[in-house]
Amino acid sequence: MNLAIFASGNGSNFSAIVEAIKQSKVKVKLVILVCDKPEAFVIKRAQKAKVQVILARREDFANRLDFERAIIHRLKSYSIDLIALAGFMRILSPTFVKQYRKRILNIHPSLLPAFKGAHAIKDALDYKASFTGVTVHFVDEKMDHGPVILQKQVKIRSSDTLASLEKRIHDLEHRLYPQAIKLFLAEKIKSRVKKVSVSTL
Ligand code: GRF
Repeated sequence: MNLAIFASGNGSNFSAIVEAIKQSKVKVKLVILVCDKPEAFVIKRAQKAKVQVILARREDFANRLDFERAIIHRLKSYSIDLIALAGFMRILSPTFVKQYRKRILNIHPSLLPAFKGAHAIKDALDYKASFTGVTVHFVDEKMDHGPVILQKQVKIRSSDTLASLEKRIHDLEHRLYPQAIKLFLAEKIKSRVKKVSVSTL
């Protein structure tokens, strides 16, 4: 099973997945990193881990369709079976999602459907929620939406600052994402999703 990780920034989840693979906790081959930002720290992490980097800059293409077509071409050439979005700051088009349906995962720092969007941790804190958490889900056509694979709570303490809450959320992300990939690989998810869709018809 060939995995591609898509990321735009720091890449701590990228490293957590690399480590889980190294420790044989997740039996998948991480073949490429697709990154849309040349300055992203995740590129350095990939180079250190000896993972091939595909730099896909949106501004090098006339439109989103051409940009995604070029990425899909590379994914096909590397026989990618599974895509893990890890802080990839772009919405994939319905055409892209259709090509890799139920084979694109995303991690989000909240208990979806609560607190979608780019500032989920701060939003939960500002809202004075008692709990927030982490969700790993399949990607569908809507942002931060799609069947949940794993979800875990994090209690918000009255003493929490944005930094302290971010730390606990990220620590949890680094454990949860490898677990979710493992679940996907075990095909447990497939049958679970199938059951849900049968019961809702
Ligand atoms: C994580 O909080 C993830 O949930 C969100 O983007 C962040 C990426 O962090 N989608 P990193 O680049 O993996 O450190």
